[in-house]
Amino acid sequence: MKIPPKGLSKEEIFQTLQGYKSTDLDWKSGRVFGYIYDPGKKVHDVINEAYTLYLSENGLDPLSFPSLLRLENEVVSMTANLLDCNSEVVGNFTSGGTESLILAVKTSRDYSRSLKPHIKAPEMVLPITAHASLFKAAHYLGIKTVVTPVHDDTFQADVAAMRAAVTDNTILLVGSAPSYAHGVVDPIADIAALAREKGLLCHVDACVGGIHLSYMRKLGHDVPDFDLNVPGVTSLSVDLHKYGYAAKGASIILYKNKDLRRFQFWACSRWTGYTVVNPAVTSSKSGGPMAAAWAVLRYMGDNGYQEIVAEVMRATQKLIAGIGGIDGLRVLGQPNMCMFALASTTEKINVYRLADKMKDKGWYLQPQFARDNSPANLHISLNRSTVPQAEALLKALEETVAEMKQEEADPETRQLQAELEKLALKFDEETFFKLAAMAGVTGVAPPEKMEKVNMLLEALPYDVSEFMLTEYLNNMMQPNAADEAS
Ligand SMILES: Cc1ncc(COP(=O)(O)O)c(C=O)c1O
Repeated sequence: MKIPPKGLSKEEIFQTLQGYKSTDLDWKSGRVFGYIYDPGKKVHDVINEAYTLYLSENGLDPLSFPSLLRLENEVVSMTANLLDCNSEVVGNFTSGGTESLILAVKTSRDYSRSLKPHIKAPEMVLPITAHASLFKAAHYLGIKTVVTPVHDDTFQADVAAMRAAVTDNTILLVGSAPSYAHGVVDPIADIAALAREKGLLCHVDACVGGIHLSYMRKLGHDVPDFDLNVPGVTSLSVDLHKYGYAAKGASIILYKNKDLRRFQFWACSRWTGYTVVNPAVTSSKSGGPMAAAWAVLRYMGDNGYQEIVAEVMRATQKLIAGIGGIDGLRVLGQPNMCMFALASTTEKINVYRLADKMKDKGWYLQPQFARDNSPANLHISLNRSTVPQAEALLKALEETVAEMKQEEADPETRQLQAELEKLALKFDEETFFKLAAMAGVTGVAPPEKMEKVNMLLEALPYDVSEFMLTEYLNNMMQPNAADEAS
């Protein structure tokens, strides 16, 4: 595609964009149980207007746009107050969970460089259920990840294993509130106590849970302690663009105090241009996400969030109980909020096939691979817009599971399964291409059905599947790919 020699009309542009969108997940159906946190049209309109009002304002320089500094301080303040933080707590607005986590890891790295200069090869200890973006942060920042198991049945971090994993090079311990995959809060108090005992920093990843759990707490639900009041917790991330229902590009990173947060910042006055002092990763940034986040918190109020959390929790509890009653499915662990993982209890139900079948019927459930003691499963996150569909989801699951029980095993899937079981004995390039072909991975277009692709990705050694995913994306993201497809 080239920039058109003559600009197009607004109508033409939006017609094309609407056309492009038609192949995306239809989240407005309320049947997409991941990716989207939709507060409904009324709230959305407010977000939209606030975002647009600040679309062009630049968060690069708080002196030039003091209103953005004010908005940032106020959004951080509202979030910190919701989390019952004391007055020493400070924080910043970031573009999302990943940026908040990168900053938490950077802060711990630079803090230990300054205070523990003898550590030359820093390590962080994290349970296998910690979010992938923590692994990404470690990768970007040159920190070794030391991964520890979670308990069978509860999927909570095994703190004894974390203790055993601490070495003289450890700088940071991590826990989730909750973990994305299972929706389970780690024993934060124990992890933080261990950090304190060993003189380490401790980050709580409450990206997905910070807001929702806080309102559950206000509503009287039993919520394990997870915030900065837990002795030993030194930083906490909480996303507003998840259960804060803000526009995408909104998260908060909080620190126990300014002395620690200092290590997050970066300044540069040694080049020929303008002075740079950045609290977060990005420099120039639209004021839109911040203004929209500020607006949604003000518009919803405690009453609005409590209403949503109450209805989402009622729907979640019914859904979890209903799934528990379907012969062939089970919910993993005891989820603490409105997200959970469902696994199969019978060979008849391959969850990846179940996901494909559900997708054919208009439902999106997110496949998650078997790792350690966590079996292959499908992830479900509820939010306000999925509540009206929760009963229908249960029915669709019941019906689909019943259908699958009647079906003969697919010979191709069986054959792939048999080949994958031999992987541990022999794995080379030839095997790889054979398996990829069996899974239907040939060109750049994703196969219609993902069952076999997921089986393959799950079974491959991590470095091979990660290499494969990278190559796939590298081939898919080509400027001329869209032209070829059309
Ligand atoms: C617990 C947790 N941490 C971090 C992230 C990453 O957040 P983002 O996608 O906003 O970068 C997620 C995303 O779902 C999450 O659930």
